[in-house]
Amino acid sequence: MTNQTITSVSRESRLFKPSAEFKAQANLGSEAAYKKLYAESVNSPERFWERQAKQFLTWRKPFTQVLQWKPPHAKWFGGGTLNVAENCLDRHLGTARENKAAIIFEGEPGDIRTLTYKQLHREVCKCANALELLGLRKGDRAAIYMPMVPEAAVAMLACARLGVVHTVIFGGFSSEAIKDRINDCGARVVITADGGWRRGKIVELKDSVDRALGATPSVEHVVVLKRTGNAVTMKEGRDLWWDDLMAAAPAVHKARAHASEQPLFILYTSGSTGKPKGVLHTSAGYLLGAAMTTHYVFDIKETDIYWCTADIGWITGHSYVVYGPLSVGATVLMYEGAPNQPEPDRFWEIIDRHGVTVFYTAPTAIRAFMRWGDEFVTRHSLASLRLLGSVGEPINPEAWMWYHKMIGKKRCPIVDTWWQTETGAIMVTPLPGITPTKPGSCTRPFFGVVPKILDENGKPVSRGSGGKLFLTQPWPSMLRTLWGDDARFKEQYWSEVPGLYFAGDGARFDEDGYLWVVGRIDDVLNVSGHRIGTAEVESALVSHPSVAEAAAVGRPDELKGQALVCFVTLKGDQRASDELKEALRAHVAREIGAIARPDSLRFAAALPKTRSGKIMRRILKEIAAGGDVKGDITTLEDFNVVASLQAEE
Ligand code: WTA
Repeated sequence: MTNQTITSVSRESRLFKPSAEFKAQANLGSEAAYKKLYAESVNSPERFWERQAKQFLTWRKPFTQVLQWKPPHAKWFGGGTLNVAENCLDRHLGTARENKAAIIFEGEPGDIRTLTYKQLHREVCKCANALELLGLRKGDRAAIYMPMVPEAAVAMLACARLGVVHTVIFGGFSSEAIKDRINDCGARVVITADGGWRRGKIVELKDSVDRALGATPSVEHVVVLKRTGNAVTMKEGRDLWWDDLMAAAPAVHKARAHASEQPLFILYTSGSTGKPKGVLHTSAGYLLGAAMTTHYVFDIKETDIYWCTADIGWITGHSYVVYGPLSVGATVLMYEGAPNQPEPDRFWEIIDRHGVTVFYTAPTAIRAFMRWGDEFVTRHSLASLRLLGSVGEPINPEAWMWYHKMIGKKRCPIVDTWWQTETGAIMVTPLPGITPTKPGSCTRPFFGVVPKILDENGKPVSRGSGGKLFLTQPWPSMLRTLWGDDARFKEQYWSEVPGLYFAGDGARFDEDGYLWVVGRIDDVLNVSGHRIGTAEVESALVSHPSVAEAAAVGRPDELKGQALVCFVTLKGDQRASDELKEALRAHVAREIGAIARPDSLRFAAALPKTRSGKIMRRILKEIAAGGDVKGDITTLEDFNVVASLQAEE
């Protein structure tokens, strides 16, 4: 969080109001109604959430207690039971939605498939039966490591139907990352595919799973979907083909009711220290957050074709490809591959081909489109679009303006949505029919959300000044704990200022009370919208036999938001070379996944440390950014280290 960012954003004074046409048709088009609802949501939260939970969810048994809040542990909708998969599927059957497209899928090679709500329901029932036949029971864990194909959503919903806790592992993660996640949650089954298509090549998913499974004693079965048709090794007794299981499974499945707090999924995300954190979300509260935000923020109508470009391996894919849109009965577009395959206009071609109306993507993608050139956009009409969204990192005003003009043709409101894996659903966002937007600001809190910005000492800062972002009220879709590590949950989120949720972001309110999120203030980087813990990268580097010590820091990067820069000292007998540099970058990609491959790696004779031996990352950050080392270096143990690091540039 540098001062420069803060002053440059505060110069932004352009204001974009939703058009009268948009306002007139919006799910919420009145500022007065918003104000009233917001006031109720923070002043009488239990009354507010009770009504929303009844409106948005279908219950088997009504809840008797809205909230039990024993900070930092919340239980929502106690006494109630429901089934998340039923809320996403069964309740649309027998209505006009039954034969509506639930998922329109386009594969990277160009194959297109549509699943109506009825068809998707059938697939999920079969899958639930198949998983049950494999012995999976309520409360068990299953890992899903799949490409962006409808079967990924089918697998998630089948787990939800059974009360089996899924953990989706992003298809770009390596076998090491798969192994760690499976072992952390003790998954009994892994659902994967032979491969997925990415930039014309096959990502060999089953292969990565095989490499992980040597050291995962909990796994009994691997279910393998045939997607790409590449040869895979099937281990007798353990590995089963998806198609065989589905063919044998009955298409009728009677869903059981689950308690509101039944764990729904674990999603691993990077933290500032140690291994990834298993963020735990439960059923009713999570689904309510996802459903309500989909309704209000994406303004979903029966006729919309809604496309969120996130992979299901991330929280955005959970909440806004699967649970949110399906629970409100939307038509979801799903695309398997890369945005520049075969050419950099693939997204725009898809929008025109399917008539996409609501489009939700990430700033890093928008910056890539800007770089690829306007001619790829102007080849297409994009006339079907009516609403745009952004998520994952702060969107720079230039990218916002380009998105507004080139993609939205100045006609579509942009919702810049701030939230996190931990929050489960969008927390701070414009409401498209109401909120005048400012390029770069996520604007105002959603219902029930009370953000506060506090300084180092936990004191409120004045308007316009930066500080740490906290949320002061519990909300239904909040994480419940970190899987198997409640101590870390308390330490990480609730200890900075006791009783308040610490988001780990730096932010400020402007003179209109609009929120500007500047970025992470802990040791978590945001590379292309993906959270990467510097500690994970460092431990990956140190696991290489040549490396003695490593420090990973971020450097501002035009395209990726942040680039990953690593400083490495070698063991005594090792010599620095370009080959070793490449080997180390590849090693990190192998250990974590290609998204964590260092953009630049520098060998150093020593790392700057304090007298107590702590690596001074602040100094490395300044060196990585190519600037002078400013600020206090009196705690530095050896001044020469900095000079030699700068000289090596
Ligand atoms: C950042 C993604 C500014 C932020 C949903 C947060 C944002 C982290 C925005 C969470 C936004 C996300 N403006 N920053 N609109 N959206 N972030 O868990 O730093 O992958 O803490 O969840 O992304 O990343 P996560």
